[in-house]
Order: sequence, then C-alpha cells, then structure tokens
Amino acid sequence: MAESRPDLAGKRLVLGLSGGIACYKSAELLRLLVKAGASVRVVMTESAQRFITPVTMQALSGQPVTCDTWDAAEPNGMAHINLTREADAVLIAPASADLMARLAQGRADDLLSLLCLARPIDRCPLLLAPDMNCEMWAHPATQRNAAQLRADGCLLLGPDHGEQACGEFGDGRMLEPEALLEDLVAALSPKPLAGERVLITAGPTFEAIDPVRGLTNRSSGKMGFALARAAREAGAEVTLVAGPVHLPTPRGVRRIDVQSAEQMYAAVLPLAAAHRVFVATAAVADWRPAALADHKIKKSGEQPSALALTENPDILAAVAALPQPPYCVGFAAETQNLAAHAREKLRRKKLPLVVGNLGPATFGRDDNALLLVDAAGEQSLPAGGGRADKLTLARQLVAEIARRLATAAA
Ligand code: C5P
Repeated sequence: MAESRPDLAGKRLVLGLSGGIACYKSAELLRLLVKAGASVRVVMTESAQRFITPVTMQALSGQPVTCDTWDAAEPNGMAHINLTREADAVLIAPASADLMARLAQGRADDLLSLLCLARPIDRCPLLLAPDMNCEMWAHPATQRNAAQLRADGCLLLGPDHGEQACGEFGDGRMLEPEALLEDLVAALSPKPLAGERVLITAGPTFEAIDPVRGLTNRSSGKMGFALARAAREAGAEVTLVAGPVHLPTPRGVRRIDVQSAEQMYAAVLPLAAAHRVFVATAAVADWRPAALADHKIKKSGEQPSALALTENPDILAAVAALPQPPYCVGFAAETQNLAAHAREKLRRKKLPLVVGNLGPATFGRDDNALLLVDAAGEQSLPAGGGRADKLTLARQLVAEIARRLATAAA
C-alpha cells in the first residue's frame, strides 16, 4: 500500500493546558498529535500543573515544557515570542473558564495568556477546548466570553455533553482527544470547498424480506464516510445519508440514517437541489423484495417459493436528472473492465464524473484504488497507481472535485 503522509506532518503546534480535570486527557491528546507527525511545545499554567506534571508532557512531546514567563532557560528571555513565531497553531486543551475570561479580556498575566496575545493572529490560529462544570459553562459571563473569543477569531472546539467529573450532567466536558485531533486537522486544512454544500450517500442498503431477514451487500461505508470527513476538512457543509453501517459520524457532518434504497431516495431527493455536489458512494441494492412479509417466514418443509423482486429507484440518476442538478459523482464497483463500465455509467446516468473501483478490493477494506473517468479521460488515484488508505484517497478525490468545480466556474 502507498505510504500515506501523517495528518500533521511538518506542523508545529503549541499545546496549552490550563487547570481542568480533563488535563488527564491532554496526555493522550499529545500522544495523538505527535503520532500524527506534529512537533509540539507544551505550555502549562500553574493550575494545570496541579492536575498533571510537566514531566509527563515533556516525555510525551520529547521537548521541554514551558510554564513560566520568566523562564531563564530561554536565551532571550522571551518565551512568548519564541513559542509563537514558528507555530502553525495554538491549541488550548483544557481551556478553563478562568483562562477563557482572561483571553477574552486580552490579559497577559501568565505565559499561556501572554503567548496567545503575542501570537501573529493572521497566521497562527487559536483553538480552545473548553472544560468546566455545566453551570460554569452556561453562566452568562462564560457565554459572553465565548462569544467574544469567537468574534476575535478563536475556534471553540466543543464542549461536549455528558456526565461530568463532579457527577453532574450537561455541557462542559472537554471533547475526547480523537475528536480534538480531527477538528484540529480540519482547521489546518486548505478550504477549496469553503461555503459549498456537499451531499453524500454511503454504505449498503438493507431490503427487508420479513421482520428479521433482508437483502444487503458487503459495503462497509468507509469510502463514503472518509469522503464526508474530507469534504468537511475542505470547508464544505456536509450531509451524509448512510445505510446500515457501524461507523462513527465524522466531526462536523450532519448524518441521516436510512435502511432501504427507497428510504435513501426519500432522504436524498428533497435535499439534492440545495447542494453544489452530490457524491453517490452508496452500494444501493438494485432490487428489493416485491412484498414485505408481516411475520417471519417459516420453514414449511416444502420447496420455498421464489422470492419476487421489484426494481429500486435509481437515486443518482434521479438527482442528475433534476432541472438544476448538483455536480454529480457516481461510483462504479466492478469486478472487471473498470474503465469501460465506469464510462458506460457516465453516459447512461448523464454524469460529469464516475469513480471506478474493484468491488472485492474495496468492500470492507481500509485501502482502495480509484479510477476517475470523465469526458476528458481517465486518471488513477493515487496518482501513478498502487493503493492508498481511504481517507487519503477521499482527500485527493475532494481536491479533484474542487478543481473541476473551479474550472467549470472560470
Ligand atoms: O450502474 P449502477 O446503478 O450500479 O451505478 C452505481 C452508482 O449509482 C453508484 O454511484 C450508486 O451509489 C448509484 N446508485 C444509486 N441508486 C441506485 C443504484 C445505484 O444512487 N438505485
């Protein structure tokens, strides 16, 4: 499989910790950031050091941890300048209510708030992951500070909803490290689809025969979910219509769950015209049982009667036939003659782009190889052939779609 570049390769980050119980999650977050290729300098407030020691963060980052504005180890005595001039972003996780209040006021009375104020605001984004009791988060003072921070260009990640360390339940938990990583990667990604709306179908459909049985296929939904994530990273507002799959919803993506092809059709058609792009990755069943039995069909001892089938609506063809269709991308899962079958779908469904892949080599797998077929010709992803993981391919396909939209608009 082609090597994929880690998501944060070459990125330099400042990870700030203020005083919150979620400091214990920041060690895991740091591990994920480093694993994703980032070089991370950790800065901790005095309160943060009561929850977790700098030694832990030093060991995990492999770099010195700075806690003091007056740190004599800095040759020029200006840690706040040194730390931010090379940073691609400052992420504060956890961000306490007190730290948010100080940032909203533009205070600089400790190293973390000082470096936030001193950072080059246009090229070093500030991301905050709030962590506090639900009453503290809901308090008008905190809400006022959050609104001010947003107005000043900070990106607030979360907070999450759920059970809190104090035993209460509500908004205020820090997001989990995996979610923070996903949001950070999205925040640092180029935005060729900024302001565009993208609709994606994914997964198999399930065509019920009776209350416990049905017809389905081996599609895992991974390619469509990766595309939803990649489109969101590229700045799009994404709606994902998913058949029955066991996958977490990508961050920032609206998800609509369906079971059958008819339900997928009913979910997609009213939405399609309001979208700029429609990508049909779903492996929609071509046929469904003509009748749904009310009760489980029992073994009778005789030869079972033939299963009568009826054809499902073609969602992609219907969207492509709208008076003002979105830019429609079809998928072709084949077992042979990929280019010829993909081109046949391009013509039959009147699409600008079809993406071919080999069914047995993609269903359920984490990697894939794509063949883009359009009026201009054919193009392999990854470029030059081979295979790549589905998220890498999804990002490349999203970039290709954005490039085609920009060319069409020019
Ligand atoms: O030729 P076929 O119908 O298999 O084309 C596959 C493409 O059409 C895929 O993009 C698939 O998501 C879409 N499709 C659809 N509705 C169907 C069947 C296929 O949207 N009923």
